[in-house]
Amino acid sequence: MRLPTRSPRRLTPESDTPKEAPKVTQEPQPDQRPIPPAVQKAYGAADLGANPLFAGGFINFGHWQAIDTTAGLSQEDRVRSQQDMYRHVLEALPPAGGSRALEVGSGTGSAARWRSRSTASHTSPAWTSTRNSSYGPGVQFPHPQGPAGPPGLRPGAAEDMPFADGEFDYLYSVEAAQHFSDLDAFGRETARVLRPGGHAVVASFFTTDDAPGRAKRLAGLLDCYANGLDIAHPVTHVVDALARAGLKGTRAVSIGPSVWQGWDRWIAHVSEPDGWPRNFLRVHEEGVLDYYVVTATRPAP
Ligand SMILES: C[S@@+](CC[C@H](N)C(=O)[O-])C[C@H]1O[C@@H](n2cnc3c(N)ncnc32)[C@H](O)[C@@H]1O
Repeated sequence: MRLPTRSPRRLTPESDTPKEAPKVTQEPQPDQRPIPPAVQKAYGAADLGANPLFAGGFINFGHWQAIDTTAGLSQEDRVRSQQDMYRHVLEALPPAGGSRALEVGSGTGSAARWRSRSTASHTSPAWTSTRNSSYGPGVQFPHPQGPAGPPGLRPGAAEDMPFADGEFDYLYSVEAAQHFSDLDAFGRETARVLRPGGHAVVASFFTTDDAPGRAKRLAGLLDCYANGLDIAHPVTHVVDALARAGLKGTRAVSIGPSVWQGWDRWIAHVSEPDGWPRNFLRVHEEGVLDYYVVTATRPAP
């Protein structure tokens, strides 16, 4: 994915000035289906997290509620926004009484590494259950750092997870589901790897409904939809896929007010003022796209 960028302003400290993302050289491999080719390219040899739009090894839009976005933004603010996204998502998981949590679409495992180092106090059971290991279990395409990548993180697809039935008390996914080509397969796998009574939380950006023209509008304004990297999944399809798989209590909550304005201010800070990523806020304000936290539970027998 080519993201428009320019030299960052007011970044602190100077030495943290982010570098341009390296050029993508890896070709899609035939055994990596059902991962769409654009996803294979974006997360293959390239490290999208090195793009100035992201920071600290995370690759999400950020949760900006606790950050003063009217002041000059720093790179520390940006890292914090992405950590806060994880905090918010993990806090959405009710206690399940167990200690195994799986992350789906974990990037290079930055979140798990950061949680293991964090001294902040958190009440989230999924947080405390995973913060004692350097890498909580995760499934990720492709395998971070090659076949000998971090222990715990396994290569695989959200639609075909390399884990046993009922292995986890919690499953969480941050800003990855907009890439999933088969939501029903993801729903079935989520229900399968959770134990009865286990909880799932899926956070990402989805269309607000399935009205005709949503996908076309997004593809017309945002390159990441035009090139197939992101899929215009209606949020109802995510909820329905989890429910069809047998999960109960499925619900979607918008966290858009904590995401879009801050994300847009950061884009304006490090990217071209009229570059296509500024259109994220536009399609949100048009009522086409929003950011959601979707929760569900595998019923106990
Ligand atoms: C936008 S990044 C988010 C990374 C991380 N969750 C974060 O917030 O920093 C999306 C991640 O999902 C992974 N991904 C995309 N499609 C996937 C799939 N079908 N199965 C597993 N992982 C997938 C990508 O490789 C990438 O690491």
